[in-house]
Amino acid sequence: MAKLTILEFPDPRLRIRAQTVESVDDELRTLIEDMFETMYSAPGIGLAATQVDVHKRLLVTDVTADRSDPHVLINPVIVEKDGVTVTEEGCLSVPGYFEEVKRAEHIRVRYLDRNGDEQEMEAHGLLAVCIQHEMDHLEGKLFVDYLSEAKRMRIRKKLVKGQRHRSPDAVAL
Ligand code: NI
Repeated sequence: MAKLTILEFPDPRLRIRAQTVESVDDELRTLIEDMFETMYSAPGIGLAATQVDVHKRLLVTDVTADRSDPHVLINPVIVEKDGVTVTEEGCLSVPGYFEEVKRAEHIRVRYLDRNGDEQEMEAHGLLAVCIQHEMDHLEGKLFVDYLSEAKRMRIRKKLVKGQRHRSPDAVAL
């Protein structure tokens, strides 16, 4: 396994829209393993392929503290969503910044697993938020896009200058 480099805002490659995965093969499975290693060591609870400069529709998540609930979603599509939840989100591509974002509390998502088999799952709360956040990455969208222009520009300026203020107990998606 290998740790991959995570792109950071405002890197323009984070704005590339990911392409559909056509075949789930060993090369993709190696990428999946590398993404898990990268996410866990960051540490974070979710990572989209876009963030490691691979523009394929693939994301990994594990919202548990003990790495006991890993999920791989390939070509994910949300088929149902409802409810509203507000979460203080962070992002491995926007290191050190955390802001409240409003998303659906419950989703049903259809995707391919690491064997290329079609699956559907229900997610609530943090897992639902995380999947929605990672799916945004696949569209070239970042959580800072939900903030005011002024706030986003402030974060951008600070990151360009290399200023971070990571709070140790917060999670990045
Ligand atoms: Ni993120």
